[in-house]
Amino acid sequence: MSALAVDGLSRDFGGLRALHQVTLAIEPGERRVILGPNGAGKTTLFNLITGLLAPTAGRIRLFDRDVTRLAPHARAQLGLGRTFQITTLFPKLSVMDNVLLAVQGADPVRFALHRPRAAYPHLRERAERLLGQWDLLDRAEVPARRLSYGEQRQVELILALATEPRVLLLDEPTAGLSPAETASVAAMIGRFPRDVTILLIEHDMDVALELADRVTVLHQGVVLAEGTTAVIKKDARVTEIYLGTESD
Ligand SMILES: Nc1ncnc2c1ncn2[C@@H]1O[C@H](COP(=O)(O)OP(=O)(O)OP(=O)(O)O)[C@@H](O)[C@H]1O
Ligand SMILES: [Mg+2]
Repeated sequence: MSALAVDGLSRDFGGLRALHQVTLAIEPGERRVILGPNGAGKTTLFNLITGLLAPTAGRIRLFDRDVTRLAPHARAQLGLGRTFQITTLFPKLSVMDNVLLAVQGADPVRFALHRPRAAYPHLRERAERLLGQWDLLDRAEVPARRLSYGEQRQVELILALATEPRVLLLDEPTAGLSPAETASVAAMIGRFPRDVTILLIEHDMDVALELADRVTVLHQGVVLAEGTTAVIKKDARVTEIYLGTESD
């Protein structure tokens, strides 16, 4: 059984074929990197998988369950998590409050949002544990907008983990980061629990090859190549379309 399977997935925007007949099967625990130049359809693929967009054709299955027609929140409840290409932190809230909101959203007591958070010490403990685990506890009281861009990306990854996803979609988590920040975000993703299946859009070829079990190359909405990192590195078509597109 695949953790995530998409079958003949297509999406048109007017006359534009953003995604055409894409078929993928991601094994449980796999790290799959989606490579491809700007406009290849990578984010569209994520939007279809998470349900933000409806497909023109095709099916999506999460652990063998057909989720093609489920709303995004229903897919999230089945264990599908994601981060976005642009930052989604609440800039004025502290790191702790951002994490608490995510932890709260994943907790069965979330229906009681109006009650003071002090009423739920276990939420705070969980948030502290997460921040400690990823070495950000000393930044807990800093407003998110005061963090470096790399730290913001790390907090976003913590928010995604806070929901305890079974399948996690990461849209260019290292975009716009310095080489040092890129290295620490890549190292963090490398330490994610191995039972979480990860689908990662990544422009940085080094990061992609370091983290991936397998790579899928998208080009103009279709799958151009798929295979292990060793196979993809040797693929002449990949080198050709990828030259000059690594800096976004
Ligand atoms: N909501 C939309 N309406 C119309 N066209 C769209 C929409 N979303 C995406 N597109 C188009 O679909 C194509 C694929 O876009 P997409 O954002 O999926 O590419 P991408 O591979 O994520 O690119 P990037 O590397 O720049 O993030 C592009 O031509 C884009 O302009
Ligand atoms: Mg994109």
